[in-house]
Amino acid sequence: MSPVAESLNKLLANYQVHYQKLRNYHWNVRGPMFFDLHMKFEEMYTGAALKVDELAERVLALGTKPLSTLKEQLAAATLAEDAGDPDALGMVANTLADLEALNTELRAAAKQAGEAGDDGTFNLLEPFADEQEKTAWMLRAYLG
Ligand SMILES: [Fe+2]
Repeated sequence: MSPVAESLNKLLANYQVHYQKLRNYHWNVRGPMFFDLHMKFEEMYTGAALKVDELAERVLALGTKPLSTLKEQLAAATLAEDAGDPDALGMVANTLADLEALNTELRAAAKQAGEAGDDGTFNLLEPFADEQEKTAWMLRAYLG
């Protein structure tokens, strides 16, 4: 597997964990911010699901098999699942930390792809990071 495909598979694994955490938070958020956060987490997990698909299909386009089972994905992921029961602001803080980790990983993988002459992967990843840096700012603003 090429180093770029390996990075894409690790991103895919991390996005699967991120996706499930957002669903968890969408379901379990409580308190006076419920309606805002219930909707925001849904918007974010919908975006994460689309990214999982784009990443997997880029891995295939590079001639490699994407990590396709939860077992493989969890083994490859560096984001941790949330087995706890955070309050609403804790959920936002955890989501922000995950986005920042994903952004760092996206920029590094895009740079690696650019250096390898893989413009398709570079062009796929950079807009993800651009969008998510804006989302991270909004989550930081929300946290005050
Ligand atoms: Fe729902």
